[in-house]
Amino acid sequence: MIPKPSIDDERLAAFRDVDFTYEDGTEALRGITLDIWKGEHIALVGGNGSGKTTLAKHLNGLLTPTGGNVIVGEFDTCKEPVARLARTVGYVFQNPDHQLFCPTVTDEVQFGPRNFGLSDSEIAEKTDRALEIMTLDHLKAEPPMSLSLGDRRRVSIASVIATDPEMIVLDEPFTGLDAKEADELMRVVNGINREGKTIILITHDMRVVAEHSERVIVLAEGRLMLDCRTRKVFSESSLLRDSGLTPPPVSQLAHRLGEYGVSPETLTVDELAEEIARLMEGAK
Ligand SMILES: Nc1ncnc2c1ncn2[C@@H]1O[C@H](COP(=O)(O)OP(=O)(O)OP(=O)(O)O)[C@@H](O)[C@H]1O
Ligand SMILES: [Mg+2]
Repeated sequence: MIPKPSIDDERLAAFRDVDFTYEDGTEALRGITLDIWKGEHIALVGGNGSGKTTLAKHLNGLLTPTGGNVIVGEFDTCKEPVARLARTVGYVFQNPDHQLFCPTVTDEVQFGPRNFGLSDSEIAEKTDRALEIMTLDHLKAEPPMSLSLGDRRRVSIASVIATDPEMIVLDEPFTGLDAKEADELMRVVNGINREGKTIILITHDMRVVAEHSERVIVLAEGRLMLDCRTRKVFSESSLLRDSGLTPPPVSQLAHRLGEYGVSPETLTVDELAEEIARLMEGAK
């Protein structure tokens, strides 16, 4: 269970007993109830076909529930046009090619703010900022579809950053990026989170989850298996068993070293180094 938020926390989204069945009869979400709060850094995880993308698409109204309710901001997504929700939730597609359609990178990144009816100077300011954050300045005039997969992904992320939404959903954003580019992307994402924006990261990479996300939501066959603080998921073997997740190597090592006094809540390389140093100091 997620701890009850303090009274001044702001709820950005609420799912209440949400079911979603595709037209061909596939039941992709079953009875999902959860809340998402302003400023959270959440990992949405689960096996292939577990319903992660389907759930994410409910956040910006691309899909609407076939049962139950999804409230985003103050709107019931069944009653609001997608364009209205785009101000609250920006969705970076799993496949960037489903998102890119403009003739140049600049046009692509400008599209969102222009659609919001902002002034030319506001559009230019938001576009320039997004291009700079994603280090795309040198590719401004290129057609997005001529770029590498990694660059196309960065354009798709920039086009969402430019709309300055309260919540950014990144659907498996590391596909096509090397380890250095993935770390760089997380640096950008964490910077946006520090500005108070909510991050929902869909990923299979448990190292990234352990190092960056505060809360983990686990889906299996369209059902909510677990919704819990990251540290708790990786530290309690019963929760891990229930979730079907494989903890990252640092966490596995911490468990193995538990008998020597290393905390099972250790999540990152830095924390493990501190734990070992603490124990070595104590042994002197
Ligand atoms: N357009 C669609 N029509 C019918 N069924 C679909 C459609 N899109 C997804 N599904 C099915 O719905 C279920 C959930 O799919 P979804 O794409 O949400 O899973 P996912 O967790 O994002 O998977 P992945 O890790 O492969 O991206 C799966 O059984 C999938 O085959
Ligand atoms: Mg998916």
